Amino acid sequence: MLTLEQIDSIDKEFEDHLAKVNTAQSLETLRVHFLGKKGKVTFLLKELGALPPGERAEFGRRIHELKNHAESQIQAYASKLKPAGAKNSDMDLTLPGLRPPAGHLHPITQTIRKILSIFSKMGFQAVDGREIETEFYNFTALNIPLDHPSRDAFDTFYTRHGNLLRSQTSTVQIRIMERHKPPLKIIAPGKVYRPDTVDASHSFMFHQIEGLQVDEKSTFSDLKGTLAFFLRELFGSSTKVRFRPHFFPFTEPSVEVDMSCFMCHGKGCPVCARSGWIEVLGAGSVHPNVLEAAGISGKKYQGFAFGLGVERMTMLRYGIHDIRLFFENDLRFLRQF
Ligand code: PHE
Repeated sequence: MLTLEQIDSIDKEFEDHLAKVNTAQSLETLRVHFLGKKGKVTFLLKELGALPPGERAEFGRRIHELKNHAESQIQAYASKLKPAGAKNSDMDLTLPGLRPPAGHLHPITQTIRKILSIFSKMGFQAVDGREIETEFYNFTALNIPLDHPSRDAFDTFYTRHGNLLRSQTSTVQIRIMERHKPPLKIIAPGKVYRPDTVDASHSFMFHQIEGLQVDEKSTFSDLKGTLAFFLRELFGSSTKVRFRPHFFPFTEPSVEVDMSCFMCHGKGCPVCARSGWIEVLGAGSVHPNVLEAAGISGKKYQGFAFGLGVERMTMLRYGIHDIRLFFENDLRFLRQF
């Protein structure tokens, strides 16, 4: 037979369970457990009929109190657990959002931006070029003769229609000079392509940065000062710079530019192949034929140009030994920068 203690203990049991409810699902389990068809409160109601008539009123009042209380508590919890808009889920829309991972710039892009910012301090303007070019811009206008080996299909990618993938950013010199008159100070980063076999130091695609300055008086010593300032900004103020005679068809005179090794400061170490010097740039005074090919007087104007490899600069800056790492998209590598 039903006792008042039994009702009290089910009442207490309900409160204990309710205190532990923290999801819509655990609230539903609680509801079924007490108010469901086979629930404990439902059981009490069924037992009511078996009581002697004199006790039914008292027991009935207590059981209905418990039932009403349980129902209103469950309803109150349900609205707390389900914020407006959420449907039958445990989602809490009041929690702060998850920030999507933003990623960061590729080390090659970082180097390009760093170099551009140094040249912009000296008044150079960043410009863009094209990756698909004609023989005129990649060779002819750059004073490269028809029989020059770099025109060979072993050294340049040609398209079926007689165009090519530029093999150097020097193409931008011509494109800019055709459309803008001196004084000119431009810096042009971009991809170049060469049919080289891929290994630790070669890739069929890499990045160059081209610089060009043209004015009535733009001398070779301006070139030296500009490149020395650039290399000292990038590799430290104690960097020494050396110019070695070289040959490029589009500059005369031409030089290769070395800087003192930032690792051993000239003593000789593995980074500089024990020579104390690292080759970093090709440069020279713009050949008058190049100015004329772009419609600028080679008598009135003079200037200088230089080109550097971005991958090589980046490998030097960070001590990277394999160019392929830049293009494999391995996040374990990229996340280090
Ligand atoms: N275009 C040359 C190269 O790819 C570099 C260079 C640029 C040299 C400008 C001189 C002047 O090797």
